[in-house]
Amino acid sequence: MTVPERWLEKHNRKLLMDRSAPGRIGASHAKLDVPESELPDAAMLRDNLDMPEVSESEIVRYFSQLSHYNFSIDHNFYPLGSCTMKYNPKINDEMAALPGLSEIHPFQPEETVQGALKLVWHLQEILAEVMGMAGTSVSPKAGAESEFAGMLMARAYHLSRGDDKRKRVLIPDSAHGTNPASAVVAGFHVVSLPTNEEGNTDLAALEAAVGDDLAGFMLTQPSTLGIFDTNLSDVIRIVRDAGGIMYGDGANLNALLGKVKLGELGFDVVHSNLHKTFTQPHGGGGPGAGSVMVSERLLPFLPEPHVTRTEDEDGERFSLSTPPQSIGKLGPFQGNFGALVRAYAYIRTLGDVGVSQISEDAVINANYILSQLRGTFDLPQDRHCKHEVVFSAKNLKDEFGVSGKDVCKRLIDYGIHPPTMYFPLPDVVEESLLIEPTETESKETLDQFIEVMKLIAKEAEEDPDLLLNAPHNTPNTRLDEALAARRPVLRWRRDD
Ligand SMILES: Cc1ncc(COP(=O)(O)O)c(C=O)c1O
Repeated sequence: MTVPERWLEKHNRKLLMDRSAPGRIGASHAKLDVPESELPDAAMLRDNLDMPEVSESEIVRYFSQLSHYNFSIDHNFYPLGSCTMKYNPKINDEMAALPGLSEIHPFQPEETVQGALKLVWHLQEILAEVMGMAGTSVSPKAGAESEFAGMLMARAYHLSRGDDKRKRVLIPDSAHGTNPASAVVAGFHVVSLPTNEEGNTDLAALEAAVGDDLAGFMLTQPSTLGIFDTNLSDVIRIVRDAGGIMYGDGANLNALLGKVKLGELGFDVVHSNLHKTFTQPHGGGGPGAGSVMVSERLLPFLPEPHVTRTEDEDGERFSLSTPPQSIGKLGPFQGNFGALVRAYAYIRTLGDVGVSQISEDAVINANYILSQLRGTFDLPQDRHCKHEVVFSAKNLKDEFGVSGKDVCKRLIDYGIHPPTMYFPLPDVVEESLLIEPTETESKETLDQFIEVMKLIAKEAEEDPDLLLNAPHNTPNTRLDEALAARRPVLRWRRDD
């Protein structure tokens, strides 16, 4: 950092309380023109509260400076594999903010919110069509909640047939981590299956594991290795022949949109994360929206409320209904409505040709990075990938003692958000770097990223300490992550 940069950094890092000066205020009040009222009981008032006393311009600068410490997709490239941080068109926010959609209340009578219900109904229909399924619920507020709903439906389906011994769910080790958690919370016993050398489901292990207690099989597609399981048709046949429900985790459908209809391949339940596949500002836990699509045999079990459409001589009408054997409510009202509006706006803006283009661009971008970084980092599955590619920094670790985490920390110095690291888990891929460029990035951006990754690999060879101590250009340098997570400093104290 240069001297002026260091000076600026020191000034900008001052906390609000440290900018405070007694008696300084940021607002002026109008003259009192109503009778003065008594203050509450003096015992309830505190006079020793440390409150910042700052001018308006100081507080505006404070929050503006603070906002620059945040990294966002509007800032620069954000290749966070599996989390899909892609550009969120601002028109989606404008649509979600329309008063007719943002100022309605869930307790309003149905006839006064017909437009909002029509939008949800359309979205349900589009998602079912895109996935080749019979129906959709957009009640879940996250991918994991969609999985939970899907597994509850699988359970309800087996029980409705008097088949109460189906307690086992098989999940490959390349599945997303929420899959086993959702199955367990829904009351199942989970058995993990290995993936084979090529990263596909191991068919021999699957054949050996199925039986009359099989409730279902949860397949993340594309898998967390970023690849399409080329054993898929055999997997579906084996699972269905054994009486199991075939579950597809399609959180990242931006690899498949317009190309594959999972329902037509034989899946019974598929979920998609609207906040990833169909854009949505998210991160840090929300806000998100899930959607869960089902085949004909699971339709009666969909969660409530479900939006249905009827038509008579007075025209069409949309209502909230409860499917006959519904698993019940997942939460209050109609899911995360604002997120549904954004997903709908994205789909309608692109149209069917544009929606197919999503998967073409997402897959080409990921494969471009794969081809350009092959040889710089290890490539555990050297085959065409889908929307994301898994590299491994094991070569740098073995040769120069530099880990995947060090590479990620150094990327921050170049103003790029690190990819997902150590996922897939170390027992599947050592020192994994899961890179997802998404469909919305240009070739120029991808080339800059590739150039930076190659520079970092060179730095690892020439000056490993540079990586071991990175980042160097950020307000906080390398943190003790365990301490930061266990003992975060969240409050200003006068003596700190
Ligand atoms: C493949 C996959 N499945 C499930 C999920 C869980 O989604 P959520 O974080 O919305 O619960 C994710 C999220 O990253 C995912 O990538």
